[in-house]
Parts: sequence; C-alpha cells; structure tokens
Amino acid sequence: MHRTFDATRDREATRRIWREIGWLDPGVENDEVVDGWVDAGRALVADINGEAECLVCTAPGTLAHQSELLPGSMVTGVTTSLVARKQGLALKLTAAAVVQDVQEGAIVAALGMFDQGFYNRVGFGSGGYEHTVTFDPAQLSVKTCHRPPLRFTLADYEAIHAARLARPAIHGSCRVLPLIATQGPMKETKGFGLGYRDSDTGEITHHFWCKPKGERGPYRVVWIVYHNRDQFLELMSVIKSIGDQVRAFSIVEPAGIQLQDLMLQPFKQGQISGGSSYAAGIKSCASFQYRICDLAACMEKTSLGGQDVRFNLNLSDPIEGLLPPDSAWRGCGGNYIVTLGERCSAARGVDSRLATLQASVGAFTRLWLGVLPASGLALTDELDGPAELIQQLDRTIRLPVPLNDWYF
Ligand SMILES: CC(C)(COP(=O)(O)OP(=O)(O)OC[C@H]1O[C@@H](n2cnc3c(N)ncnc32)[C@H](O)[C@@H]1OP(=O)(O)O)[C@@H](O)C(=O)NCCC(=O)NCCS
Repeated sequence: MHRTFDATRDREATRRIWREIGWLDPGVENDEVVDGWVDAGRALVADINGEAECLVCTAPGTLAHQSELLPGSMVTGVTTSLVARKQGLALKLTAAAVVQDVQEGAIVAALGMFDQGFYNRVGFGSGGYEHTVTFDPAQLSVKTCHRPPLRFTLADYEAIHAARLARPAIHGSCRVLPLIATQGPMKETKGFGLGYRDSDTGEITHHFWCKPKGERGPYRVVWIVYHNRDQFLELMSVIKSIGDQVRAFSIVEPAGIQLQDLMLQPFKQGQISGGSSYAAGIKSCASFQYRICDLAACMEKTSLGGQDVRFNLNLSDPIEGLLPPDSAWRGCGGNYIVTLGERCSAARGVDSRLATLQASVGAFTRLWLGVLPASGLALTDELDGPAELIQQLDRTIRLPVPLNDWYF
C-alpha cells in the first residue's frame, strides 16, 4: 500500500501535493523546503494510478521528559493530494512511518496537529496549553539593558540550528535534529534574527528569529533561545527597543515564565487595543500531540519521586487497527504492571493484587507527561480506574506543564 519516497520517481509529485494543499507558493525557493523535509528523514508515499498522492515525513528528534532527552519520531508532514482524500491513506501512512521509526529506536512520537481527533486515531494525545502572548513592545517593563545585537540571516542557519539544539532541556521541549527544521522556517518566514555570540567560541548563544509584518507589525517571534536570566532580559530589551514603530509582537510564551509579569498595565493595554490589528492579549490552545511508543523504555527514563504507586495498566492502542497483520510492531497496547516513583518501570503482565487503570495510549501519554492530572483525564479522556488509584496518581505525578518550544 505504501513505499519509500523515490527521488527520481516522486520528486515532482510530492511538490505537487504540497502546492495543491496550499503549503507552497509556486517557485523554486519553496520547492526546496518540501525537498528538504522529504530528504531530511523518513518519507513514505502512497500511490493512486501510479503516482504519489499521499506523503508522510518524519524526522529524528527528542522529547524531554524532565531532563531526559528521549529519542522520538517527529512527524513533520502528513499530506494527501486533493484526488486521494478519505481513502485512509494518511492515517495508515502515518502509522507505517511511526512503526519504521520505532524499529530504529524511537520510543515516543510527536507532531503538530491541524485539528484534534485525527491523530488520536493513531494513538496521539494532546499536549499542554501554549500561551500566545501579543503585546506592545513599548509597554514591556524591562529596563533597557542590551548591547547592540548581531543581525542573523538565512546564511547563519547552521549556527542557529546548533544554538537551538543546545538550549536547556525544559520538560516537554522537542528537538528536531535535521537542519531543515531550522532552515525551512527561516526561509518560509523571510524573517530576521537578532542575538549574540559567545565572545570566546563564536557560537550563537541567545537570539530570536522573527517574522516581520510591514512597518508596524505584528511581528511574530518564531523561536527564542536563552540559557539564563541575563540573556532572556537582554533579548526582551532588544524587543522593547523596536517598539517605537512596531505596535505589536506575538510570541509563544517560553516554558516556566509568565510574560504578563513583564507587561505594564496588561489589562488596560488589552482593552484599549482590542479589536485592532495590534490587539494585545493572551490566547491559548494545545496544538501539539504526543504518544508513547515503547512504554517500558519511557518508564525506565522517568523519575517522579515520592512514594511508589504500583498498578495494573490495561493500555489500548488504536494504531494496531491501522497496521497490516504482518507488521513487526503492533503498538504498545496490552497489560502491564507499572511502578511510578523515584524509579519507574513497566513490565508486561497482570498482578491480581493490584488495582487496574484502563487507558488509551494517548491518555496515558498525557498523564505521564503531566498535561493533566489523572482525575482530570478521568473526566475528559480515555482513562478510568478506582478512585483511590486516581488519587494516588494525582499525588505522585506533579510535573510542570510540558511545552514543546519547537514548531514543526
Ligand atoms: C489531513 C489529511 C492529511 C488527511 O488526509 P486523508 O488521506 O484524507 O485522511 P484519511 O483518509 O487517512 O483519514 C480521513 C479520516 O479522518 C477523519 N478526520 C479528519 N479530521 C478529523 C478530526 N479532526 N477528528 C477526527 N477524525 C477526523 C475523516 O473524517 C476520515 O474519517 P473516515 O475514515 O472515518 O471517513 C489531508 O486532509 C490533508 O492533506 N490536509 C492538508 C494538509 C494538512 O493539514 N495536513 C495535516 C498536517 S498536521
């Protein structure tokens, strides 16, 4: 049903898919972006009438669970041309790509979703709410404390990519390893970078990449990288310095901070600018999804502290229904005995003395990442168990909201 992308045979067809769905404007420069993603990792295609009409790309990457970087399958593009919709191609091809990545060592998978529900059918569950903050840079309360920043351009993509990969591993953060994961958005946004280099090594340290809009904005910060308070405040000071004409900046709030802390009269600003093209405020939604692919390996890398909780886990994995009967990996559904605590583990089996939690792999992934407590997931997702076990899980899993911090 599917096969690996073949550059000689499929190059034009895959460009056509991306153009047809509106991901590319016609033009050689943009063709390089789809080619870049296709060539960077795994690319599977499915044919209709002998031509590739569905394309799924994945790239190697990592997902941080606290400070552990777990090897992951980053699903970077799921696309079906207009002649091939609703044939089940995209779901099956996504499942097939994840299987191949798992066979090469991925223990988790991550993706940005076009909407909720579709990838739940492949076992994914939604991540934490991200806050997109729009603000008038002139109204930042930070002091002017920056040195004149360096200007970064597309020519710096390799150093910028290295800087992104080197940023601190915050819980939930993703890294997408191929260079196209930085070069692609730099090209597409036709943006600019501002930031600093280490005076000894010359490496780019703290910086941001920005998609501008006209003279007055809103400007969108596509990513921001910093390692400590001074670097963060220096970048915010640079943003403030652009506030004489640019009326608004938007940024996905970095993990672990509330940007509202740095806003002067945020409610007043929101009320005054409301309804304009520069409306200040905070919007939130969960736009990324994740799934555990190897439960035992994920648990081995997890440390939660506190008193151990042991339980049976009856895990369902819908990916199984999308795979051919002879698939070497069939998802991670089944019965496990799970221990959560300082040292976590999951082993196949059932212990009749323990309480049992029923969960889909998407819901259990959300629990494990700390997206929501067990008691919340029991209300809105596919997770159920005795009240006492749910309470114990609420007490044991106390993680910061996982935030991706790398759009792909
Ligand atoms: C998303 C996309 C790849 C789906 O392609 P497709 O080959 O038609 O998908 P499939 O045939 O495998 O699956 C379609 C099924 O998913 C269902 N579905 C679609 N969106 C859904 C949602 N949000 N929630 C639940 N189910 C959904 C459809 O109703 C259909 O169900 P059915 O099989 O029961 O009829 C295609 O619409 C596309 O290329 N869109 C443009 C690019 C894009 O946005 N890609 C996703 C990037 S994250």
